[in-house]
Amino acid sequence: MTKKPEKPAAGTRVLKTRIKKKSGLKESSRRWLERHMNDPYVQRSKADGYRSRAAYKLIEIDDRHHLLKPGLRVIDLGAAPGGWCQVAAARTKSTPENPHVVGIDYLGMDPVPGAPVLEMDFLDDEAPAKLIEMLGGEPDLVLSDMAAPTTGHRRTDHLRTMHLCEVAADFAISVLKPGGHFLAKTFQGGTEGELLTRLKQNFRSVHHVKPPASRDESAELYLLAKDFKG
Ligand SMILES: C[S@@+](CC[C@H](N)C(=O)[O-])C[C@H]1O[C@@H](n2cnc3c(N)ncnc32)[C@H](O)[C@@H]1O
Repeated sequence: MTKKPEKPAAGTRVLKTRIKKKSGLKESSRRWLERHMNDPYVQRSKADGYRSRAAYKLIEIDDRHHLLKPGLRVIDLGAAPGGWCQVAAARTKSTPENPHVVGIDYLGMDPVPGAPVLEMDFLDDEAPAKLIEMLGGEPDLVLSDMAAPTTGHRRTDHLRTMHLCEVAADFAISVLKPGGHFLAKTFQGGTEGELLTRLKQNFRSVHHVKPPASRDESAELYLLAKDFKG
């Protein structure tokens, strides 16, 4: 079990890294960097050897919902820089000799032992078949943490990430083993009515989850669809 990094006790003085306003950075970038440097999950991911703070989102969801078990086959969509691959490979006991976690991202990343990653756009027509070929069969679990690159226009960013979530859901419905699960990043207030209906038709339970590692101020949310009807 993992615990949310603790908030300091009331009255405790916390040393905060500050970046000067005259640093030459755009104000939004300066604030992002300052928040990143002071984020306890970022500090903990460095200490624990995870590639990203996102690793804790999967850890927290899995501690609660028990998706990852030794031997299960997993596909990780939007894998870079590899935090979820690290968690999935460790919890399914996937090894370089017998990998049963496979990822995809159009960004290159350092290899994760036990989780080969296809460097390709998931929206490419050939990507689904390649993933199944690499995995050597149907997955028990499809994960998607895919997020479209931000444009600065919030609504556009949400719509593009929602589209990725819908394509990921179509993929999961077409490849999952009966009884399998689907976990994907989405956004609060996203245009997800139809998607929810389709998931409810195909899975025995569907709900939203917001792990503690997902920042409160972020509209990010995860859709968890369990027990694929097949
Ligand atoms: C939030 S990051 C994933 C972090 C990852 N779960 C981890 O723990 O390190 C989102 C990723 O989705 C990838 N992505 C977005 N659209 C994609 C697409 N069409 N095909 C493949 N990867 C995509 C991005 O390149 C980015 O690396």
